[in-house]
Formats: sequence, structure tokens, C-alpha cells
Amino acid sequence: MYPTLFKHVFCRMDPETAHHLAFAAIKVFGVFRSPVRWLCKPDSSLKVETLGLTFESPFGIAAGFDKNAEGIDGLGAIGFGHVEIGTVTPVGQPGNPKPRLFRLVDDRGVVNRMGFNNKGSWLAETRISQAVKRTKRPIIGANIGKNRSTPVEQATDDYVISTQRLAPVADYLAVNVSSPNTPGLRGLQELESLEPLLASVLEQAAGTPVLVKIAPDMGDEQIDAIVDLIVKLGLDGIIATNTTIAREGLKAAPQELTRIGDGGLSGEPLAERALEVLKRIRSRAPEELCVISVGGITTADDVIERLDAGATLVQGFTAFLYEGPLWARNINRGLRKRGWRQPSTKR
Ligand code: FNR
Repeated sequence: MYPTLFKHVFCRMDPETAHHLAFAAIKVFGVFRSPVRWLCKPDSSLKVETLGLTFESPFGIAAGFDKNAEGIDGLGAIGFGHVEIGTVTPVGQPGNPKPRLFRLVDDRGVVNRMGFNNKGSWLAETRISQAVKRTKRPIIGANIGKNRSTPVEQATDDYVISTQRLAPVADYLAVNVSSPNTPGLRGLQELESLEPLLASVLEQAAGTPVLVKIAPDMGDEQIDAIVDLIVKLGLDGIIATNTTIAREGLKAAPQELTRIGDGGLSGEPLAERALEVLKRIRSRAPEELCVISVGGITTADDVIERLDAGATLVQGFTAFLYEGPLWARNINRGLRKRGWRQPSTKR
């Protein structure tokens, strides 16, 4: 039913308006979370233990969907084992001018240049501290970034402010140095910037697990160097990957891509690269490092492919816009049907 509704109604709507409508429905699921949860709850065999936490399912919703921690109850009720809120910045900011979100329907992809539109990490702190009180809730990650107006040289200050606010309430922190829509942000992936930044966040996090989220547009040597750095510093994990600035191999016409302009590409066209990056990370990282794979996930088989390639957890975003509200439930059912369980070596 949803694909037909999508084709006829959502697909004709401005994508950001469609997202707001879908989000309103998710908030309603949060209000009626007990019956919704009853329908969508992952089977108990899907539990994953990592980061000192128990996830109800290996599958979660990636950062950018719930920017302001408003939909945690609803997203948990419809089957996501974790919700990564954000990216949030110390001070709220409007993001880039609209339009800034574009569908590539034939590619089952999306291009976005949202630019960290969010209401600030102080509001996320308040909302997460409410959500964590519930007994039945998803694991909550907080994804943090820098304000556009903060000079890159002072970026660490922004990450430290949000860490101080969010580490006491969130289950884990994700340090986002990989979104393509904030000038200079991805430069923070260079080791000389990344090392002091991560060391400061780790110190302020005071035991809350810290992961770093990386871009897919890096060479193998840089990926290896980042893995080595996070092992050296004692970070808890890595999230791979964010959206790509590449545009190769798309069905969309070149004129259409020119009309859309800059932004990060996500969805199915990202799947192959995200899998390659996962494999590269796994070939270098110690087994106990938590690796969250994200990029181009649509089906339970996609999730299993990533788990088999060494992911500890898997996230998705873009296919949610195409698959609709039963997406996480269907993935969890597919995982159960295929008999997936977390390997005991990873517990
Ligand atoms: C994102 N993504 C993202 N990532 C992040 O770390 N912080 C953010 O604020 C956002 N914002 C955002 C907005 C929109 C509209 C999209 C489509 C994506 C990236 C996202 O978390 C994920 O890494 C990529 O989208 C790849 O996964 P999918 O979409 O291919 O499943």
C-alpha cells in the first residue's frame, strides 16, 4: 500500500514537506507506542550486545532523520533498535536555504544539502533526558557537529560543548566530521585535526561510548589511518558512512543532477561503496571495536550482508522515505526468518 501511496501522493510533494508529514505520523506512533510496539517489536533473538548496551535489534535509524530528538518514542515503537538523533550543534541554526532535499526516484536515492538545520544541543539534552526515563525505549545515540559560523580552527570547542550536554543523557555519542554540507567539516578527518578533537571529546564524555562517523570519499590509506587513530585513543567505534559527493553511475540525467547542484548523495547508489569501506575497516580494526555500517540499506538481506561482512550494527535512512513506516518491522522480520543471531564471539 505504501509504495502506491508514495507514487501518487508523497512523490509529487516537495520532499521536505513529505518528510515533515511522515514525521508527524511517527510522533503519533510515539503517543500510541504500546499497541504500535506490540505490532512491530523485534523478536528477542535479534538482541545485540555492544558498547556495554543491549540493542533490541541490530538495525537503527541513522542521523539526520530525527534532528531534534522529537521522534524517539515513535521510531522505537515501529521497530528501530536504536535512534541516532542529530546532527545537533551547540547553537540552533536554520541550515541552508530551501530547496535542499531532492529525490532521485529511479536511483532510489536522495541528494541533500540540509546543512545541520537543528534547534541546538541544549534542547536535544532536555528531550533525551525525558526519553531515557521510559522503560521500553530504543538505544539513543547523539550525533554532534559544529555550527556553520564557528571557524574550523575552533571546531573542537563546539564538539566539547555538545559532549558536555549530551554525554550524561545519551547512550552513545557520534562525532560527525563527515557531512559535506558544512564548509570545512570534512577537513576535520585529517589526522592532525582529528586527534586533538577526538581526545577532547573522549575526555569530556566521561565513559559514555564515543564513535566517529566518516565519509565514503576517502582513500584506503586515510581510512586505515583513522582506524589506527581511534584504536590508539581508545574510542569505542566507527560509523561508516555518511553521504557521498560522488555522482557516478546514476540513472538520473546529467541535466537533472546539474539542476539539483551540490549535496550529499545517499540511498542505493551508496551501497557498494559503504560495503567496501566496511570491509576495509574490518580488515584493520580489532574485533571488539563496534562498527556501524550505513549507506544504501533497503532489505533484510542487505542488513545480513553487512553483518556478515563484520558490522556490529547497521543503520539506514533513505530507503525509509521509499519503503514507509513498516520498513524496520519488515527488516526485523526478515532477519528473524533467516535465523540471524549475533555471533557469540562478538558479545
Ligand atoms: C543525512 N545524513 C546525516 N548524517 C549525519 O551524520 N548527520 C546529519 O545531520 C545527517 N543528515 C541527513 C539528512 C538527510 C536528508 C539524509 C538523506 C541523510 C546521512 C545519513 O545519516 C546516512 O549516513 C546516509 O544517508 C547513508 O545512509 P542511507 O540514507 O543510504 O541509508
